[in-house]
Amino acid sequence: MLLTTENLGKRYQRRDVSVDALRDVNLEIQENAFVAVTGPSGSGKTTLLLTLAGLLKPTAGRIRFRDTQLEGFSDAQWASFRHKNLGFVMQNFSLVPYLSARENVTLPLVIAGSKGKQQKTRALELLERVGLGDRADHLPRELSAGQQQRVAIARALANEPALVLADEPTGNLDPALANDVLKLLGDLNAEHGTAILMVTHSPEAARAGTHRVHIEAGCVVEAAAQPA
Ligand SMILES: Nc1ncnc2c1ncn2[C@@H]1O[C@H](COP(=O)(O)OP(=O)(O)OP(=O)(O)O)[C@@H](O)[C@H]1O
Ligand SMILES: [Mg+2]
Repeated sequence: MLLTTENLGKRYQRRDVSVDALRDVNLEIQENAFVAVTGPSGSGKTTLLLTLAGLLKPTAGRIRFRDTQLEGFSDAQWASFRHKNLGFVMQNFSLVPYLSARENVTLPLVIAGSKGKQQKTRALELLERVGLGDRADHLPRELSAGQQQRVAIARALANEPALVLADEPTGNLDPALANDVLKLLGDLNAEHGTAILMVTHSPEAARAGTHRVHIEAGCVVEAAAQPA
């Protein structure tokens, strides 16, 4: 198993108001799975994703990644874990506006300390993988929304993560572009075996996944493989 949670819980405490955003979440994500997480607004989807990435501390339960228990990790251990194993794709693309597509994709490689020439080759390779090899020198604003999201996906793949966490990656895209991005994620999953956990509002987007998890009020109410 790639990732397992055991009775994972997250309670937000604001003065005298507390919100149980996740309760007793038991999840198993297989190596190579493409899991679509659905659920109403406020059900805890983003909280789940951030907790799995160590960006929020759970208030209960455990997380195991392959053979490693993560919940006792220090911030530095989490940072190194994320860097080695995770990629992130967000709804608003979060590209650096004054850097070209290639430079945006290069950022994680710079942090990893790889050599300049290798970075350039690798970034181009990744842009080609998402179908944007000819747009390497474009700034984000010179690309369509769907293309910007593909650059963000290329960047998420830079360190060959085992798991990509995507929060509403098609939320800001019109249906045709959304489909392109879903197809790209599906292909990456099928061809490279990258596991994906994708949060989505859209039942249609959820059908792109190999597995489906439905959350309501912080509880997993359904988790199943879905037919291809
Ligand atoms: N920092 C916070 N402090 C207090 N409560 C929070 C905080 N962040 C989220 N919540 C609450 O936790 C619950 C789950 O929020 P979360 O953002 O995980 O939902 P979501 O499923 O991602 O919703 P959406 O589909 O609208 O993005 C909500 O009730 C929300 O109001
Ligand atoms: Mg959310």
